[in-house]
Amino acid sequence: MSLSPDTTHTHGKRVTTLLEAVHPLDPLNASEIDRAREILVEAGHLTGQVRIASLLPIDPPKETTAKWKAGDPLDRRVLAALLDRATGNAAEAVVAITRGVIDEYRPLNTASEPYGQPQILEEEYTGMDEIVKSSPEWRAAMKRRGLEDQIDTCYCTPLAPGFFPGREDEVGQRVVRSLTYLIPNPGDNPWAHPVEGLLALVNLTQRRVVSVEDEGDVPVPMKHGNYGLEAQGPARTSLKPIEITQPEGPSFAVEGSEVHWENWKLRIGFNAKEGLVLNQITFRDGGEDRSVITRASVPEMIVPYGDTHHTRYWISYFDAGEYLLGQNANSLALGCDCLGVIHYFDAFVADGLGRPKKIPQAVCMHEEDYGIQWRHTDQHGNPEVRRSRRLVISYFATVGNYDYGFFWYFYLDGSIQFEAKATGIVFAGANYPGTNDPHGTEVSPGIFTPVHQHIFSARLDVAVDGEDNTIHEIDVKQLPTGPANPYGNAFTWEATQLKSESEAQRLAKGEVNRVWEVRSAHRTNLVDKPTSYWLLPEGKATLLARPDSTVYARGNFATKHLWVTQYAEGELYPAGDYPNQHAGWAGLPTWTEADRNLDGEDLVLWHSFGFTHIPRTEDWPIMPVDYSGFWFKPHGFLNQNPTMDLPSGVTESSCASDGGGSCHAEA
Ligand code: CU
Repeated sequence: MSLSPDTTHTHGKRVTTLLEAVHPLDPLNASEIDRAREILVEAGHLTGQVRIASLLPIDPPKETTAKWKAGDPLDRRVLAALLDRATGNAAEAVVAITRGVIDEYRPLNTASEPYGQPQILEEEYTGMDEIVKSSPEWRAAMKRRGLEDQIDTCYCTPLAPGFFPGREDEVGQRVVRSLTYLIPNPGDNPWAHPVEGLLALVNLTQRRVVSVEDEGDVPVPMKHGNYGLEAQGPARTSLKPIEITQPEGPSFAVEGSEVHWENWKLRIGFNAKEGLVLNQITFRDGGEDRSVITRASVPEMIVPYGDTHHTRYWISYFDAGEYLLGQNANSLALGCDCLGVIHYFDAFVADGLGRPKKIPQAVCMHEEDYGIQWRHTDQHGNPEVRRSRRLVISYFATVGNYDYGFFWYFYLDGSIQFEAKATGIVFAGANYPGTNDPHGTEVSPGIFTPVHQHIFSARLDVAVDGEDNTIHEIDVKQLPTGPANPYGNAFTWEATQLKSESEAQRLAKGEVNRVWEVRSAHRTNLVDKPTSYWLLPEGKATLLARPDSTVYARGNFATKHLWVTQYAEGELYPAGDYPNQHAGWAGLPTWTEADRNLDGEDLVLWHSFGFTHIPRTEDWPIMPVDYSGFWFKPHGFLNQNPTMDLPSGVTESSCASDGGGSCHAEA
């Protein structure tokens, strides 16, 4: 496959900029975003202070995509969430870009149960300082603390407020909470200087501070938290260069949004909410491209805090639903974010006015050496060794103080791994140095960082050898010592089919090595067992908030490691489409009330995983990357180890000349 015209190649990197959709699953491009805006304007839906809170591609029905052949016409559609900043009214419009019409227009009921608001707009973000700083109560609180000379330079954050029933100033209104951070010198890291005890509630429609809470007199910690080398240097000089060279280029090929690498084929998608989406993932086996996953993404994550303080008990960010992960994607840089021969994909999102915004180099793709794939030394002392490598497809999003990496890994042996990387600045409050705080760690004198969780939801629309799949839970099982186990050593494994959506809401269980098996309902392998893949969970803590908390209802997906649903169009977000200020139970808990059949159906796995973060001094001023994720591994899918044909001499020159052993018996 050759490089397509939308790919440019400069200085060791290649960049794909998709300017035209040629496949039903291609991400939105700039001209489509322009066209969507024009259609909305022509229809009179984008007037005055109406803003586009999100503009997301709508995948065509699955059957349409399955039947689609290159050259067939496309019917490109987007979902626009509209917000009138003047009135607070919200609506959804389904815009048929290709046909030039609005297919559907429906108001969003944000004023009554169960509420919910479109995500926070960029202009609401940037306008926060002005609103908060014009509040006399807030100014008085700053003055009371002797901070009046800091008012012009300090930073007032716009934070999703959570949901608390009965609060007239909040429920059904579009609000954020705002905490204040000092910026003592230009360029200083504000998160190191929290003005503790000061909290403003801001109505975004009225653009005014509704109330100010001002408690306590904890001094603002003034030790800087700056992380640049000008503050933390000089840079060490002990590191010798590591150069990754691929003199013949990478082993993958890119054609538009389609990627081929070894036996893997997939399509790169991207949207403002989920960020990176991988479509139509297949693994070639004996000349046949066998389906594994139809669509894979991480469409939501929740960051609930475990603090009781009035400035923090309400924190429970939904980084996709409230802030749009993809909209906040970083542009990645060669040599910093990505090392080696890199292929980037640019992404296009819409701004609040519906104008296309290019995120250059939003998605990074490259190959990595990954140590040993397999090895054996025979009875004569002769080794056979093959090296492993993986294809890495990733992006990074920055949401406020935190930065998240979303990394998909494809391996030669048919395995898929996902890894979330959390880094950035831990959220900080202040207290008197030495205070014993059961809900936060003192990471620097006077800086207290509350305990919290980051729980992600991966949505895996699986298709193990086709869409008709079944799901089983596999536990290992000890056997009682007796006639069936005379020596007490025996154990076995037990597969329990999860036949309906109510049965398939599961917790991981490390002590029985619990995994979940996705089987083909019709295809068998060489030993006549259903072909299958295993989902291997890490099984860390699920949501720790109590069932009577509001966050339990709002982030209910995070109370189970696994949910399985029967595929239904439009079921994309596990906490619902608009978790911002939503009362809860949207998404998975609502859909699964139907208790649909999962036996031989088109299945979607929703896997919750992530970090429970008790911050440490080493997390300050910037947190070293922490990792959490899962594996999706062939288990009876392939008839033998699919890497037996790897060449033994890939790095022969280096390993033959090292004076020690050799790569393989014949060397
Ligand atoms: Cu954290």
